[in-house]
Amino acid sequence: MKIIETIHDMKLFIEQAKRQGLRIGLVPTMGSLHEGHLTLMRQAKKSCDVVVVSIFVNPTQFGPNEDYAKYPRDLTGDSAQAGKAGVEVIFHPQAQEMYPNGYNSFIEIGGITQKLCGLSRPGHFRGVATVVAKLFNIIQPDKAFFGQKDAQQVLVLGRMVADLNMNVELEIVPIVRESDGLAMSSRNAFLSVEERNAALILSRSLQLAQQLVTHGEFNVEKLKQQVIAVIQAEKLAKIDYVEIYSYPLLENIEVITSKALLALAVRIGNTRLIDNIILEG
Ligand code: PAJ
Repeated sequence: MKIIETIHDMKLFIEQAKRQGLRIGLVPTMGSLHEGHLTLMRQAKKSCDVVVVSIFVNPTQFGPNEDYAKYPRDLTGDSAQAGKAGVEVIFHPQAQEMYPNGYNSFIEIGGITQKLCGLSRPGHFRGVATVVAKLFNIIQPDKAFFGQKDAQQVLVLGRMVADLNMNVELEIVPIVRESDGLAMSSRNAFLSVEERNAALILSRSLQLAQQLVTHGEFNVEKLKQQVIAVIQAEKLAKIDYVEIYSYPLLENIEVITSKALLALAVRIGNTRLIDNIILEG
């Protein structure tokens, strides 16, 4: 497996692969790979000849008081895991390579970025959209793979690809969970044993909401209140948001009549975790 660090070399590699008529799959990541990321890579292998994984902790999507500096980084461990998953190339640029002095272009997506993580992390999706657009331009993938774990990110990137007529197909992979339900995340590494246990409240509260809907509760306010109550009962948990919107448009609704997204962001100690479920009316 190759590790490529410059945009120039990455473009050369892609040029050669395209000349051979190979289908390129891209899995964008920030590294510290876990089974969620690896599932995306295996999925990419199924329909693409060459799988490129980008590992880049993207500074423009972190706020000034967020965890950019301490975000876990482990290129050696990551390349071993990606190799086992059948990945041909890791694209691992430095921040200066992606954002050299004088860099000044950003992609803003309106509407759906004005809620959920877009509200609690101002500028986050501007950074995500910008880096993903850059990766699409550099790697020119036929297909790019993203996880439903970041449900809003998927919708924002879908909007970008449609609005800007980008020539790439997005494939969305379901949330990969630990056997006890915790959604896999690179940030789980920050949790102490006690916090890891408390973090189960996210997936448990989603399951509770699913059960309530199955038993006929479709009122959004009542569902939200029950989810909030369950999370608040966990001493180590502090809610950032609990929201239910129509899916995929993310419009306000009072009653669930068709698909709805229940999305959570909860701080466990100092670690902010997100999770979500699609409920059906
Ligand atoms: P990162 O958090 O590293 O996630 C990379 C990809 O893996 C994303 O598409 C994410 O949704 C997916 N993923 C993470 N945990 C998952 C899980 N438990 N199940 C399924 N998929 C999972 O998301 C980012 O990086 C960045 O914002 C990025 C798109 C790379 C832009 O910088």
